[in-house]
Amino acid sequence: MTVPLPRRVRGVVPPRTVGRFTADVRDYVQHVISGVWEFGALLAAAELDIADHLAHAPLTVAELADRCHAHPDSLRRVLRTLAPYRLARPVAGERWKLTAIGEVLRGDAEGTLRRAVMERADPEAWDDVRTWPTRITAGRSIRPWTGRTGRNAGALRPPSAAALETLGVGLWDTIKNVDDFGALLVAAQLDLIARLKQPTELQELAKEYDADPESLRWMLNRLNSYGLLSSPGRSVYALRKAGETLQRDRPDSTRPAVLMNGQELWWDMLRRLPATVRAGRPALPDGITSTYAWLDDNPEALQLFHAFMATRTHPIARVLADDAFPQGSTVVDVGGGQGTIIAAILQAHPTCRGVLLERPRVAERARSHLQEHGLLDRCTPQAGDFFTDVPAGGHTYVLGSVLHNWPDQQAQQILARVHDAMARTPGPSRLLCIDMLLPVGDEPHPGLRLDMRMCSLFGEGQERTKDEYDALLTRAGFQIHRQARLPHTLTLTEAVPATA
Ligand SMILES: C[S@@+](CC[C@H](N)C(=O)[O-])C[C@H]1O[C@@H](n2cnc3c(N)ncnc32)[C@H](O)[C@@H]1O
Repeated sequence: MTVPLPRRVRGVVPPRTVGRFTADVRDYVQHVISGVWEFGALLAAAELDIADHLAHAPLTVAELADRCHAHPDSLRRVLRTLAPYRLARPVAGERWKLTAIGEVLRGDAEGTLRRAVMERADPEAWDDVRTWPTRITAGRSIRPWTGRTGRNAGALRPPSAAALETLGVGLWDTIKNVDDFGALLVAAQLDLIARLKQPTELQELAKEYDADPESLRWMLNRLNSYGLLSSPGRSVYALRKAGETLQRDRPDSTRPAVLMNGQELWWDMLRRLPATVRAGRPALPDGITSTYAWLDDNPEALQLFHAFMATRTHPIARVLADDAFPQGSTVVDVGGGQGTIIAAILQAHPTCRGVLLERPRVAERARSHLQEHGLLDRCTPQAGDFFTDVPAGGHTYVLGSVLHNWPDQQAQQILARVHDAMARTPGPSRLLCIDMLLPVGDEPHPGLRLDMRMCSLFGEGQERTKDEYDALLTRAGFQIHRQARLPHTLTLTEAVPATA
């Protein structure tokens, strides 16, 4: 069956694509990283045949889930992530109706994007990207994805410009974004950024890295087109200021985020997102019980994960440190990671003290971090479980990017333990929560992509809208005092125990 291409649909293309990207390059790097999770949503939509099921009649999420054998809430989240692409629109009776754009994901016929999505996620093509850094340094050639792998390589052609306009260039870009991520992964793993502080000729670089020159040229040109590199002479490449975002050892480096997303389990889990959406829980490989358990069993990945969290949290910690903390007061950072937030607060407030509650392996890591900052005499890393006990005595409690890891029931438990701890503390206490708040409409938002990462790796861990978030805190007995925007589209919510 050939599905006819829909007529031109106006005004539906979410803003992306390299050439037209207007935000700064740091945001672009984050955009590429999070874009792979958006691809995961597209893959789930394609593999579960959502467009074909909706083509017959508008359906509620529950009806659609029933037809495609998916977990309703996970499916709702996939639809929400893809909402900016307007593949389907809500109609009466809380039903979703396929749009002309949604038609492009129908069936397996030529001219649909479904085939392109499925082929991009073909296991061979998928694993290929993750191994680019090792392949390129083994002198093997790397090519951007052009379609089918193996015998049919190159069979798929990008849609024509006219078709792209019709299909929504954003969807095609989401597929191509996987290659962009691969180029960033090569740059990060090979530390190309540090090497290119000195303008260097392609052949010289290829020799140094034992790399295939043409593959390297393709990568470098890609990085050049993002604005991370420049090309001051023929076949000469140099670092641009914007490219420093990928430099190692910068407190806000994007390098750990790129490397973390290229970890085998994370890459694999992306490919497994359709299975996760079917099951309603992470489709983890045999023998792995949870993402956190896997991190505990893989010290290198654990280290990378916390380096990634630290670089992500660094700009937020700086803003929080500017907040008012009473002289001599105590801050309890619940699930504080390696201590990025509490270290920034204590450095800015020399009379304050701190407690950092973490899982045992991470508490050990936090101890070294706090020691490096000369803060061990004022901050105690405490191994524990925030589901069972949170230490009393805090004037300020912090939950930084913790609640979004958990479904409502468990998030309520964590909040209840914080509430108990406050009740056992003399004097007033407040709670500072940091998370992304999702928009209500269908505008593009980084939180939607982050939600796919949560869905994939942490099951029912989820991003919430402001109303959902506020309701969570209110149900746990808190009253919200203020909400403020933080870097990286995060929001600070300050709450206190509600008065009876
Ligand atoms: C997404 S990270 C946030 C880290 C830090 N707050 C930040 O903003 O950078 C969530 C943290 O929760 C911790 N965590 C998970 N389960 C926990 C538990 N049961 N008790 C204490 N900490 C836990 C993890 O180890 C992880 O460091």
